Amino acid sequence: MIEIDAVSKIYGAMTAVETVSFNVEAGTVAAIVGTSGSGKTTLLRMINRLVEPSSGAIRIDGEDTRTVKPFELRRRIGYVIQGYGLFPHKTVAENIATVPQLVGWERARIDQRINELLDVFQLNPAEYRDRLPSELSGGQQQRVGVARALAAEPHILLMDEPFGALDPIIRNKARDDLSAIQKKFGTTVILVTHDMDEAIQLGDMIAVMDGGRLLQYDTPQNILLHPAHPFVADLIGQNERPFRLLSLAPVSTAVESGDAEGAPVAETATLRDAFAEMLWSRRSALPVVSARNERIGRVTMDAISRRAAKMQ
Ligand SMILES: Nc1ncnc2c1ncn2[C@@H]1O[C@H](COP(=O)(O)OP(=O)(O)O)[C@@H](O)[C@H]1O
Ligand SMILES: [Mg+2]
Repeated sequence: MIEIDAVSKIYGAMTAVETVSFNVEAGTVAAIVGTSGSGKTTLLRMINRLVEPSSGAIRIDGEDTRTVKPFELRRRIGYVIQGYGLFPHKTVAENIATVPQLVGWERARIDQRINELLDVFQLNPAEYRDRLPSELSGGQQQRVGVARALAAEPHILLMDEPFGALDPIIRNKARDDLSAIQKKFGTTVILVTHDMDEAIQLGDMIAVMDGGRLLQYDTPQNILLHPAHPFVADLIGQNERPFRLLSLAPVSTAVESGDAEGAPVAETATLRDAFAEMLWSRRSALPVVSARNERIGRVTMDAISRRAAKMQ
């Protein structure tokens, strides 16, 4: 668990982060969301001591980070910055090897880890190991950036607007990939974003920041249903709120028996996705399939609106 305990950062007359406290449970994702200049990056960088807090403490599994050597902390904490920060003159393999080399892993173990991570990120090692970052698409660079951060098997991953530079379709795929990898490795993730949809999609908990202060730390559901501050309500947006609520519930929660015409939707898709598909394809019902692609029923627009009404 990560405990952020009354942490502040003051630059001269500027308070970048003001007495922020929250805990992140091991193996979960916390999303820090807020507008530009709200102190998100400063807070994130205090966790791996790239920025030293002016006051307060940060503990990881009960241990005060001030008592841990910075290199040891960096081995335990992966860090992904906006723009991915890949070394341009190093190959994909060399980029991923950075931290394992630093902490003295054997060559064979490093090579095995590089191949394992490239496989996980769906980049064929034979094809991609020796490429330079400039020979990759934006989405591939992003994946290598995350692979590099995970190379030394950190329990914690800090991500600062990691999907900002991707186009919307790739971005969605990258978020799904991150979720899958986070579950596979059981990594604790703290993700900074200015995008409320991203926070809702990825966060088990959401920390809303404004002007260096933490306005609310809560589950996505509670943030949407019970915003604790007018700024939080603004960030959610009155018109967006029903759709964002639908994005919290999978199709499986509104399946009924019966059939429907046309392309099916997966039971793991969100009700928001199903609703969008109905609008685009002008259907009021969609067939629903299981993970094994077996038909398990249908979802209707009526069922979605009943489900939405229950969530309000
Ligand atoms: N090294 C620094 N020196 C002075 N002011 C800083 C420094 N780093 C950040 N700030 C200020 O602290 C505030 C929060 O910055 P930051 O944490 O980068 O916000 P965010 O990531 O939410 O956009 C901003 O007003 C920024 O100008
Ligand atoms: Mg920032």
